Amino acid sequence: MSPLNVALIGFGNVGGGVARLLLEKSERLAQRAGRPIVLKRVVVRDPSRPRAVSLPDGMISSDVREAILDPQIDTVVELIGGTTAAHDVVMDALAEGKDVVTANKALLCTHGDAIFERARTAKCCVAFEASVAGGIPIVATISQGLAANQINSIEAILNGTSNFILTEMLAKRVAYQDVLAEAQRLGYAEADPTLDVDGTDAAQKITLLTRLAFGTKVPLSAFPRQGIDTLELADLIYAEELGYRVKLLGVAKRVGSKLEMHVQPTLVRREKPIAQVSGAYNMVRLEGDAVGSLWLSGAGAGAMPTASAVVADLIDVATGRAARTFPQLDLWQSHPPLPIQPPEDIERRYYLRFNVEDRPHVFAEICDVLGRHGISLASIIQHEVPEHDDRAAGSDAVPAIPAVLMTHRAREGQFRTADVELEKLACVRTPRVRLPVAD
Ligand code: HSE
Repeated sequence: MSPLNVALIGFGNVGGGVARLLLEKSERLAQRAGRPIVLKRVVVRDPSRPRAVSLPDGMISSDVREAILDPQIDTVVELIGGTTAAHDVVMDALAEGKDVVTANKALLCTHGDAIFERARTAKCCVAFEASVAGGIPIVATISQGLAANQINSIEAILNGTSNFILTEMLAKRVAYQDVLAEAQRLGYAEADPTLDVDGTDAAQKITLLTRLAFGTKVPLSAFPRQGIDTLELADLIYAEELGYRVKLLGVAKRVGSKLEMHVQPTLVRREKPIAQVSGAYNMVRLEGDAVGSLWLSGAGAGAMPTASAVVADLIDVATGRAARTFPQLDLWQSHPPLPIQPPEDIERRYYLRFNVEDRPHVFAEICDVLGRHGISLASIIQHEVPEHDDRAAGSDAVPAIPAVLMTHRAREGQFRTADVELEKLACVRTPRVRLPVAD
């Protein structure tokens, strides 16, 4: 059989992993694909830079056009990330009739419609398993393994960097800033780690899964998105005391005739499988009407796990499987879209933490505001502090102490309006933390 000749555009952490698999496991891959998969070209910005993976002489260059136009190349693997140069690489490769494999969720979120349209016109395919949840075969699971189901809910940890940081903060009792650099050193983070820690990366991934599972295209601006970059260690510790772990959870689920979506640090009961996922691991819990609940867990970031997904896509291209499944992916096509639940109507329980003055009537004032907005309390923590005599020193000397409240279910809109009033209370100081609780 003729080989599948591959050009790798981008040779960073994941690119190095893909090259290692293609070069070191060529026999195994040829057996699985029924034909050799041959790495022919690697394109980088600066070929003179030292690399962790050594390549055969003459393979590396800096000329993307030359690689894409090379008639020997069958498939282009885009691993440069971002939405500008990567867009040109993918569109040009498809225009030349080459199949494309990409790990780029930002690109698919931003330009997915045009890319898939061009692939259809060119009778090529775009494979993107590596774009969501690293080594977990979640795209194949939803689009093939669960094809008989109506998916009712997706609840997932989709950013390995954030999960690593949350795990380390709690285990070592350290602040957010002290762990971020370690996650970058270990190769989990994006080139711009802001996208990991502000929730953007997870939000891009949940929108791709939403498109696959529900056939609905949701812009990032249509649902609440919050990262872990503003979280304080104190909240992870209070959550632990209450029997919960804080996880950056992406959720997309049917509620009546609408789709509820959000990406937020969320309290999850400690005994639930998703609460027990630590380090750079991801987990996706799917609920289908026939299959019930499924939990898929594995490394969501890092060179070799992501390379595993990229090379699985290359095998699918080599066998012709991708050419059969790609046109059937009911992706990026017009559907009657499920309307998105307006954020203010999302109903959940919440964890609240305030710094409050330690003086009479404080809880009465807070509970009065919450109660008038229909928010009912489920539990309260206020730890004892040493006695103080503020009458002698004047009210400026009243110390502020943390108060933690767990609420019953209420709508986001009720909390927002209550918060406007809470902010005005003299007894409530900053920070005012509010985190959702998963049921
Ligand atoms: N930076 C991502 C993460 C991996 O930390 O999960 C690639 O999507």
